[in-house]
Amino acid sequence: MPFDFDPYDSAVIDDPYPAYRYLQDNDPVHYSHALRSWILTRYEDVRPSLNDPRLSADRITPYLERISPDERQKVATVGPMLQKWSVFMDPPDHTRMRKLLNHGFTSTALINFRPQVEVIVERMIDQLVEKGASGEEVDFINSFAYHLPATVIAVMLGVPESDVEQFRAWSEDLAAFVGSATDTPDKAGLAEASAIALTDYFAGIIESRRANPPAPEDVTVIDHMMAAEEDGDTLSLAELISNAVLLLFAGHETTTNLLGNGLIALLRNPTQLKLFTERPDLAENAVEEILRYDGPVGSLARSVLEDLEIGGKTLERGQRVFCMVNAANRDPRQFDAPDDFDITRENSRHIAFGYGIHFCVGAPLARMEGRFALAAMMKRMRAIELGDSPPTWRDSLVLRGLSSLPIRFKPA
Ligand code: HEM
Repeated sequence: MPFDFDPYDSAVIDDPYPAYRYLQDNDPVHYSHALRSWILTRYEDVRPSLNDPRLSADRITPYLERISPDERQKVATVGPMLQKWSVFMDPPDHTRMRKLLNHGFTSTALINFRPQVEVIVERMIDQLVEKGASGEEVDFINSFAYHLPATVIAVMLGVPESDVEQFRAWSEDLAAFVGSATDTPDKAGLAEASAIALTDYFAGIIESRRANPPAPEDVTVIDHMMAAEEDGDTLSLAELISNAVLLLFAGHETTTNLLGNGLIALLRNPTQLKLFTERPDLAENAVEEILRYDGPVGSLARSVLEDLEIGGKTLERGQRVFCMVNAANRDPRQFDAPDDFDITRENSRHIAFGYGIHFCVGAPLARMEGRFALAAMMKRMRAIELGDSPPTWRDSLVLRGLSSLPIRFKPA
């Protein structure tokens, strides 16, 4: 029987890289019957596909057109909200939205926000160290990696820290609807209810910031987005709210995965962990190597707008393509010794943040969080090791990350 890539096979969930290598070598433009989709695994195919105008990022409009009017009624808020997310838009709509969104993430905005990120990292490291100080096993994901990015992005969006948990619950309902192939009961209904709650909540934040503009030192992403203007064009209230929700959504689980995938790679490569402990100045490089070696986003989906040929195969209009970013980042045709985790590797040109017009808006923020968090961990924790219970990976095709990572350590 020919090989059929199945991302929900438990061996592939734990370690997808052998399957990726097999495909790269034997069937680089593979049709997966399990997924009813094309799977691209070579760097030379994945990278240009992410920026190919014949491949659309809009998975929402075809879905809304496919379902019945009754079903469409049940997603009357969440459907149009997702259609306004830049990540699901094609040009020219994407070009306009992206220009306006970029206002929230200028380098000045980020530099101003830096001290706040440092304070949040330090506070959360304090809590983690306190929890593990007795030598008890702690789950790194639930005790740290899960909380840090959600808190950072919430604060950037003007959400008080006391509401972060509530926000995460809403965001998870959206994630189940957008990103998961598993059919949980009423996932559309839950996503709809959460989209309504998020819309009300952000409308309140925007209204109160308009009525009482924050002091200059408290101006943050949401204020920049509210003030954004390009050639007289601004974001409507619905666009503002939708894209605030996108930022909340895009900014937390990805960065959680960066921290979790990074720590497990270090623990499984003790010489690299030792090197990093001795040289915390390698934090910037280490973050890039983690992104390349086992990045937070496993694949990105596109749909074919017009027939096109890749690697001698014809992809037909209407078919779906998964661009396997993590496979491309381990392609031996692009990287020397791609399966070696080497935090001194330089100029790797990985595509963990995507490529082309949709390149991650939050990349500088994610890099900053990653650097601060890893450096603080190396400084404050000693003799870190895997705990007795095994780590568990999430079964998502799009996101690649751990749901638990039990560890032990000694406070430094
Ligand atoms: C390590 C963490 C992160 C990774 C690996 C990551 C990865 C990505 C990737 C691969 C894309 C491209 C999507 C595509 O081509 O379809 C993307 C887009 C995006 N990311 Fe991130 N991301 C991270 C963190 C963040 C953060 C912290 C934010 C916001 C605060 C963010 C906001 C966005 C947005 C808004 C887009 C859509 C850009 C567009 O459509 O033009 N991301 N990200």
